[in-house]
Amino acid sequence: MTQQSPISWTPFYDRVQNGGPDTWLPKVLALIDREKRAGARLFAVDLGCGEGRDTRELLKRGWRVLAVDSEPEAIERLRKHPDTAPHLDRLSTLTASMSEASLEGASLIYSFLALPYVPKQEWTKLWNAIGGAITCGAYFAGNLFGDRHHYAAYEGVNVVSESVARALFEPFDVLRFETLESKGIDASGAKVNNHEFRFVIRAKD
Ligand SMILES: C[S@@+](CC[C@H](N)C(=O)[O-])C[C@H]1O[C@@H](n2cnc3c(N)ncnc32)[C@H](O)[C@@H]1O
Repeated sequence: MTQQSPISWTPFYDRVQNGGPDTWLPKVLALIDREKRAGARLFAVDLGCGEGRDTRELLKRGWRVLAVDSEPEAIERLRKHPDTAPHLDRLSTLTASMSEASLEGASLIYSFLALPYVPKQEWTKLWNAIGGAITCGAYFAGNLFGDRHHYAAYEGVNVVSESVARALFEPFDVLRFETLESKGIDASGAKVNNHEFRFVIRAKD
C-alpha cells in the first residue's frame, strides 16, 4: 500500500546547507578531470538543485551552472547563500520542474536525490532531453533510488530495480555504476533503509 510522502524539503535544506557537496559530486568531477573531455566548456545543469550545495561546489571550481528546482524556497536559498555571492555571474536559475529545463550546451548534467521525485508523466520528456544532451557530449551523473529504499512505500517517489537501472543506461558508456545499501537518516532525521544506484554515464565512442 502506498503512503503519502512525508517530505518537507525545508529540514533537508537546513541540514545540508553548510556541509559542502554530497559525496558523489567530487568523485564525478575527478573522473571528468581525468578524462579531459569537458575542456573549456565547463557548463553544468544541476537538476533538483535544492538549496544548492552541489551548485556552489561547481561554481567554486569554475563551472557555469544552470540550477533548476521546482521549489521557490530552494532557488531563493541558493541565491542568498553567502558562498554563492562571489559567483553570481556564472549562475543562472530556473524555478520549474526539471523536465522544463534546456540542457543545450551542457557538458555535465547532475542530479542527486532528485530524480526519484520527478512525476512519472514527465519522465519520458526528461529522459529524452537528457539522452539528447548526452549524445551532444554531456556526462550525466547522479543517483536513483532502488526498490529496497525506504521511500519505495511512498506515493510520488519512483524507485527502480537494479536490472531496470542498468537497462536504462545500456545505450550509453557507463563509467561508474555503484549500488549502495545501508541504514541512513532521512530528511526528517528518521532512520531508514537507503538503497540507491549512483552512476556516471556518457555517450559511447
Ligand atoms: C532531497 S532534495 C535534494 C537537493 C539537492 N540535489 C541536494 O542533494 O542537496 C530534492 C530536491 O528535488 C526537488 N525536486 C523534486 N521534484 C522536482 C522536479 N520535478 N523538478 C525539479 N526539482 C524537483 C525538490 O524541490 C528538492 O529541492
